[in-house]
Amino acid sequence: METVKFNYKETCGVPLNDLLVVIGSLKGYREKLRIIADTGGYDALESSINLPVDEVMHSKIDEIARTFKTPSLKYVVHIGIGGSSLGTQAIYDALMGSYDALNPRRYPKIIFADTNDSGTINVIQECIRGVQGKEEVLIHMVSKSGMTTETIANFEIIHVFLKERFGDVKDRIVVTTDEGSTLWAVGEKEGFTCISIPKIVGGRYSVVSAAGIFSLSLVGIDTHAFREGASLMREICLEDNIAENVAIISASVLYHHYQSGISIHNNFLFGPELESLGKWYRQLAGESLGKEKISGSGDIIHIGIMPIVSIGSNDLHSVAQLYLGGPKDIFTTFVNREHGSNNAKVSPTPIFSDLSHRIAGKNFTEITNAIYGGVLVAYKNRALPFTEVIFSEVSAKTLGAFVQWKMLETMYLAHLLGVNAFDQPNVEEYKAETRKILGAK
Ligand code: PA5
Repeated sequence: METVKFNYKETCGVPLNDLLVVIGSLKGYREKLRIIADTGGYDALESSINLPVDEVMHSKIDEIARTFKTPSLKYVVHIGIGGSSLGTQAIYDALMGSYDALNPRRYPKIIFADTNDSGTINVIQECIRGVQGKEEVLIHMVSKSGMTTETIANFEIIHVFLKERFGDVKDRIVVTTDEGSTLWAVGEKEGFTCISIPKIVGGRYSVVSAAGIFSLSLVGIDTHAFREGASLMREICLEDNIAENVAIISASVLYHHYQSGISIHNNFLFGPELESLGKWYRQLAGESLGKEKISGSGDIIHIGIMPIVSIGSNDLHSVAQLYLGGPKDIFTTFVNREHGSNNAKVSPTPIFSDLSHRIAGKNFTEITNAIYGGVLVAYKNRALPFTEVIFSEVSAKTLGAFVQWKMLETMYLAHLLGVNAFDQPNVEEYKAETRKILGAK
């Protein structure tokens, strides 16, 4: 069975009684979330929890995807940044592997255009030059606000390449945005296909909407299994039986440590293909929890748990010395999988037999499991607090479960910290300044 396990009891570093106090303070908020889920729809700030079960929205997305999912499709150019791209890339990289771009045989591929980078643009231009017909390329532009500078700039440049090569390309452009945004209006006027994201759902909570699902389904990822995993996890994370409710437990553990001065949260993911998942979480936690607020005495206070991403085993050879020997201000969530597909095997009679006799005949999964086991022992020896998230396997379903868990964890954590998990006033601040510098009204 595909599962996502959570190990915390022995290693999280929070005495059970303390944990129960924090958990108890989430009772009312959990009940509120349960009501939002039971009511359905998109009236509350937390309504993104209803995305996985929104059959009407998903059948529309599926219907549009079916019209574009043709055997000739080679490249989906996903244009978007932040919440409009990180979730899609997290799932894509986790399932297709971090070296997908180098695989000359596996198509269709998603190419991500997020920041404004000439290198990426050159590669996209090369891809467009190399295709035989416009039906091999589809642009999926995602912008909730429709106002993000990088996204608009990337679109304008890539659109010109396509037009120069093929003339009229409006049938190769899909725009996902807020219905009613300026982008939606322009998209409709230009004859592009437009898909809406519910207005209340912010970018970093949108991976289970068209923002993530549409591109992923075009390249053959089982988005139904992804939604199923998210729906099942939604129920677990709204569970009244707290022993089952992993989001309440993980949020409470993080909150307890934050209160005692541990304000760095290291997501230590074992497997290079999981790095983008770590970066998706980094944005979710960073933008949702890093806030200014006014204290009871009227002072501005700054709240936030710093999310960092480490990759195993690479970063053991980079920052592990700091994690193990440096200041004790880090809480770690290890993310690993039970069964790797990492089956390359060392010869039973290796050349460097004197140096490597203990790995003779072992496959990479066995070797990395030994390294992982060693890390856990080292953490335990130093009483460094950690939890483990273990995928039985990395699949569309377990990834759906993971992202839904983390989005609910973030909502519970924001509630504990007393911050709004759904706005990003300081991001808006720099975006507005950028537009001014560029001379926009
Ligand atoms: O999560 C968020 O709200 C942000 O990261 C946005 O997704 C990001 O800034 C891009 O914004 P937009 O989708 O409006 O182009």
